[in-house]
Amino acid sequence: MKLTTRITLAAALALLAGPAAAQKKPAPAGKPAATKPAAGGACVTCHAKVNPSIVKDWELSRHSKVEVGCVECHGSAHKTKDDFANAKMPTPDTCGQCHDAQVAQFKKGKHAFAWAAVKAMPTFHYQPVAIREGLKGCGGCHKLGLKTPEEQAELRKVAGPYGNASCDACHTRHLFSKAEARRPEACQTCHMGFDHPQWEMYSGSKHGVRNALKQTGAIPQYSAAPTCQDCHMQEGNHEVRTAWGFLAVRLPFPEDDPQWKADRVTILQGLGVLDPSGNPTGRLDVVKAADVARLTQEAWDAERTKMLKTCNQCHSGEFAKVQLQQSDGMIRDADHAMAEAIRAVAGLYQDGILPKPKSYAFPFPDLLTFHDAPTPVEQKLFVMFLEHRMRAFQGAFHANPDYANWYGWSEMARDLVDIKAEAATLRREHKATPAQGPAPAAQPTPKK
Ligand code: HEC
Ligand code: HEC
Ligand code: HEC
Ligand code: HEC
Ligand code: HEC
Ligand code: HEC
Ligand code: HEC
Ligand code: HEC
Repeated sequence: MKLTTRITLAAALALLAGPAAAQKKPAPAGKPAATKPAAGGACVTCHAKVNPSIVKDWELSRHSKVEVGCVECHGSAHKTKDDFANAKMPTPDTCGQCHDAQVAQFKKGKHAFAWAAVKAMPTFHYQPVAIREGLKGCGGCHKLGLKTPEEQAELRKVAGPYGNASCDACHTRHLFSKAEARRPEACQTCHMGFDHPQWEMYSGSKHGVRNALKQTGAIPQYSAAPTCQDCHMQEGNHEVRTAWGFLAVRLPFPEDDPQWKADRVTILQGLGVLDPSGNPTGRLDVVKAADVARLTQEAWDAERTKMLKTCNQCHSGEFAKVQLQQSDGMIRDADHAMAEAIRAVAGLYQDGILPKPKSYAFPFPDLLTFHDAPTPVEQKLFVMFLEHRMRAFQGAFHANPDYANWYGWSEMARDLVDIKAEAATLRREHKATPAQGPAPAAQPTPKK
């Protein structure tokens, strides 16, 4: 359905129902009975003094209008100011009692894998505890993912009972507002910065600028301007996934393009899912389990077709197809530069100029060591991969010429020159002092 039609329809329905009727709408039939004001009363009365703004937000929420009170989400085991450790903290299943459709969609989508994916990184345990289970870095964004009961218990020891809700990521507590979640700002806190600046790319693109102008009233309220949600949560579907995914690696290989195929094999070797002779490693299973890449043509096409349908609401099908094909081409060219850089560093291992670090499975650069890469030339390779290659293709897909060009492609060209020069220097130094290769930089000690 067209966006404008949906909005008009919703507005018409709201008018028909009237505010009073809308407020009296009961909890869905067959669902647990919502708290009667009397039952929720004690929680609200006391918490209005303890944390007045939590109660205020709840009062402003749709939940308070339909009599979904504190007890529905936190249980009734805590009753006094001293026993609050008995209060239950919600998980998606708490919301699922009444919102099974959204929870089922969420569980099928990429967001549900966020915790599994971060924990699958080989150097996750090198990061400070606050960054991981303390939810201040990787964990702060990736807590969105589903956790097993064992993982929840582990988290509890470091971060307390918090961080298992997932559903408060876009409609935050205790407003739980649909209007908030529909705004692109709802994605900003996580989809920004170093390796996935979708917020910056989008807000500077014509799409984002138009959306901003709509908010200020400079252009009409119903003029065309897509949000993140229009393109990635079509029809309000909570299952998010894209064709290329975060790392822009996929199967099958492009058999009609031998150069791109060779470059992609090199990148998969850099990611450690293929070994230096091209055979699959154990890491491939981890990557498959976390749904990191689309592994068949059909899986890829399904996402691409959905996306093209969205573009087609506002652009010609042909225009949209050409735009996405150009962006695919950006990945191909970025892959070529990236593979050349990986081969330059791999050559240093093959020729014994860099010794194999103890934590590496193979004498080959490992892009997934991120900022814990052991040598300066590999640090450069990491930045080229995770910052600049990302920006080149993500900027192309998000209609932001500056990110695609200056923050992406142009930086990759500079990285490649630097990496080749550094490799040449290491080779010269190695020749001059054949007895001892350069010592690898110290890696931070893993903290338990
Ligand atoms: C007599 C006062 C009182 C009553 C009644 C009360 N609470 Fe609390 N509750 C507290 C206090 C005090 C805290 C600690 C909060 C703080 O330090 O700000 C707390 C904490 C909580 C927490 C947070 C726990 C945490 O680990 O952060 C939740 C959730 C909660 N209450 C829910 C409820 C619910 C649901 C009810 C009704 C069944 C309820 N409360 C009734 C006083 C009360
Ligand atoms: C629709 C479900 C829902 C309802 C209703 C609800 N809460 Fe919560 N509450 C949550 C979620 C989700 C969290 C976040 C848990 C986490 O961090 O994992 C939370 C966290 C809290 C916290 C601790 C975190 C903080 O920010 O301090 C307190 C205190 C709390 N709720 C009190 C209340 C009170 C009082 C009410 C009733 C006025 C209430 N809640 C109603 C879902 C709900
Ligand atoms: C006991 C049932 C129940 C539980 C538990 C519950 N909700 Fe709701 N929720 C409702 C009802 C009923 C509505 C109103 C639906 C309507 O407007 O038709 C609602 C509305 C909403 C809305 C739409 C608000 C708007 O602006 O229109 C959101 C978002 C939402 N809930 C999220 C959550 C989340 C997240 C949780 C878990 C933390 C949760 N709910 C737990 C019953 C529940
Ligand atoms: C709390 C942080 C957080 C918020 C808020 C958030 N995301 Fe995400 N998002 C993530 C993480 C983490 C991943 C990677 C999950 C994984 O695959 O392991 C992700 C993945 C995605 C993907 C999948 C990309 C792929 O690999 O195909 C899409 C699409 C996406 N998010 C869109 C959105 C949109 C749209 C919003 C706002 C409506 C949003 N996200 C809000 C953290 C967040
Ligand atoms: C600011 C929020 C944020 C922080 C901090 C963060 N991530 Fe992410 N991460 C994301 C988002 C958002 C995505 C999805 C981006 C996309 O698809 O373009 C993601 C994607 C990933 C993926 C790819 C998942 C997949 O299946 O495609 C991995 C692995 C990952 N992050 C690991 C980490 C590690 C390890 C750290 C800490 C060193 C970290 N992240 C810190 C938000 C964050
Ligand atoms: C990535 C951001 C994001 C996350 C995470 C998220 N939501 Fe939503 N949610 C949205 C958006 C956007 C909408 C508005 C969709 C629309 O326009 O119809 C929405 C709408 C809703 C609604 C109202 C549906 C309706 O048609 O009235 C409910 C209920 C809801 N979400 C529940 C949940 C639950 C439960 C979870 C956890 C499993 C969750 N959401 C997680 C973004 C999110
Ligand atoms: C006009 C549609 C559109 C809008 C608006 C949009 N995106 Fe995208 N997004 C795309 C396309 C197209 C792709 C690449 C899809 C593919 O792989 O084929 C993409 C990819 C992604 C990915 C996967 C990795 C990547 O290539 O970046 C994430 C995550 C993402 N978008 C998040 C967001 C967020 C967050 C916003 C809002 C700040 C947003 N997008 C706005 C169309 C859009
Ligand atoms: C809700 C409507 C809407 C959707 C959906 C949408 N766009 Fe746009 N797009 C626009 C508008 C409006 C402009 C500004 C047109 C102009 O510059 O004259 C624009 C501009 C662009 C531009 C800038 C180049 C140009 O012609 O000015 C590109 C590229 C683009 N869109 C690609 C896409 C792609 C690819 C998709 C799907 C992934 C998409 N758009 C989805 C409305 C939309």
